[in-house]
Amino acid sequence: MKYFIFFLFLMLSIISWAQETKYMDNYSCKECHEQIYDEYQTSAHSQSFFSNTFHQDIAKEAHAQKYECAVCHMPMANNLQELVEGKAKPDINNKTHTDGVSCFFCHTIAYVKKSHKYNINVQARQAEGYKPTLYGTLMNPDDSDKHSSATNPVYTANACKGCHSHKVNDNNITVFRSMESAQNSKDCIICHMPEIQGGAEKIDKRSRGHHASHKFLGIHDEAFRATGLDINLSVENEQLSVTLTNKMTHPLIIQAARAKFLQITIERGNEIIWKNYQKKPSEDKEAYFAYSFAADNRHVVVPATATQSAVNNLEAKETKQLVYKILPLQKGDKVKVALYVQLARDDCKKVMRDEDIKLTQPLLMKEVVYIQK
Ligand code: HEC
Ligand code: HEC
Ligand code: HEC
Ligand code: HEC
Ligand code: HEC
Repeated sequence: MKYFIFFLFLMLSIISWAQETKYMDNYSCKECHEQIYDEYQTSAHSQSFFSNTFHQDIAKEAHAQKYECAVCHMPMANNLQELVEGKAKPDINNKTHTDGVSCFFCHTIAYVKKSHKYNINVQARQAEGYKPTLYGTLMNPDDSDKHSSATNPVYTANACKGCHSHKVNDNNITVFRSMESAQNSKDCIICHMPEIQGGAEKIDKRSRGHHASHKFLGIHDEAFRATGLDINLSVENEQLSVTLTNKMTHPLIIQAARAKFLQITIERGNEIIWKNYQKKPSEDKEAYFAYSFAADNRHVVVPATATQSAVNNLEAKETKQLVYKILPLQKGDKVKVALYVQLARDDCKKVMRDEDIKLTQPLLMKEVVYIQK
């Protein structure tokens, strides 16, 4: 009997240790980290199933019942397994669902397990009855009455690779890929979380004066998206050379919904006398960067069902030269090389609702102009 009681006690303590972590929602951080909170609110990470109708439509096409997307898009869900298995649905009244890639989730990633389909974020277990411990990289961080702070060197190395590394569908087809397995997330932080003015916390007792930006600027920011690629051009006789250099530590195309392409025109006066494509940018195959998916030799839009895929990409740090035969140039002729992005490829229209069709409108990323002397 004594042993039984001891055993029972042991079981109970294991169960309570393994209990769900007490969740601190995004809004609760605002009290002390107001500036970081405001930055975060403008970022893609604050988006969730409920704020992004394009996401909802693709999720429904991918699977009518299951919401496997939750592991990256709703990682804090208190019923993650049920969502993934289709036994529960996203719930707009549940904070762990509406918070998207939440502050608390990111700051409790203990390590990342490599896995074929996609990597798995393993969260630190929080001891029952104690304040949660949040990881970061501050030197001698202070605690607060709401949480303990712990500087964890593993943290920054792993912070991005749980979700951003890769995704493979059930048919072994790569849906996206942006990091190599040995790549350090510090790479990503340098560009996407630059140090900006303002303490890490409202009172800034340690007079730090700066913090890592939580805007996570990316493809949606006009000025930022011009910085990822260099475009150089040269004209010799009847030949135009365009050199593209990807300065980023990830491929030009990560997200399967996107298309990025070059539009090259030569203007004489008010007339366009040459263009690299007639109707569709995809006619210039070398300068059209996008995934395309197929199943049963039939084109499919949603990658979840694909059994074949093709992609023209510009890998991390890769340089590519494109050569075009053009007409001989005259003085004053203007050569324009413009890189555009469609946040959703044309074929996504098939699965989108009307209000999202605007996502297929090309947005300018960068333009270089040469005038013949
Ligand atoms: C392994 C993690 C992971 C899984 C699983 C995942 N995604 Fe994503 N998703 C991401 C990441 C990371 C991004 C941002 C990448 C980028 O923008 O290049 C993203 C971006 C997107 C975007 C573009 C968002 C925009 O605003 O344009 C859509 C749409 C999307 N995902 C839909 C889905 C759907 C639907 C599912 C489930 C069928 C899913 N994702 C599953 C990680 C994941
Ligand atoms: C009651 C005030 C308060 C609240 C609420 C609060 N924090 Fe903090 N936090 C602090 C203080 C103070 C520091 C220490 C700042 C310093 O050392 O400069 C800190 C530090 C941090 C650090 C740095 C840890 C390190 O080791 O580098 C992270 C990450 C963090 N907080 C995340 C959060 C998140 C996420 C939330 C919401 C879930 C939150 N905090 C809510 C007061 C608070
Ligand atoms: C828990 C999963 C997860 C983690 C961890 C994560 N991300 Fe993301 N990230 C996403 C998802 C999902 C999206 C797309 C959200 C959407 O648009 O709906 C995204 C989008 C982005 C974008 C695109 C922004 C844009 O507007 O183009 C950038 C940049 C980004 N993340 C950087 C990072 C960096 C840097 C890290 C590491 C410090 C990181 N992420 C960690 C899930 C994650
Ligand atoms: C040299 C700076 C730089 C580095 C390093 C870098 N990025 Fe980027 N990233 C950018 C720029 C600029 C863009 C926007 C232009 C583009 O997408 O072509 C971008 C775009 C993105 C996007 C959005 C793509 C889309 O189409 O939605 C994601 C997600 C992203 N980066 C994640 C990462 C991750 C993860 C890492 C670390 C492996 C990383 N970035 C490293 C500069 C960088
Ligand atoms: C996508 C993951 C991610 C999300 C979401 C996120 N953070 Fe962070 N945060 C980081 C990383 C990574 C660092 C460390 C940056 C570095 O080492 O330069 C950091 C740093 C911090 C710091 C320390 C300041 C500094 O300069 O290092 C605080 C405080 C903090 N975050 C609070 C928050 C709060 C509050 C939210 C939500 C409003 C939030 N974070 C959301 C990844 C995230």
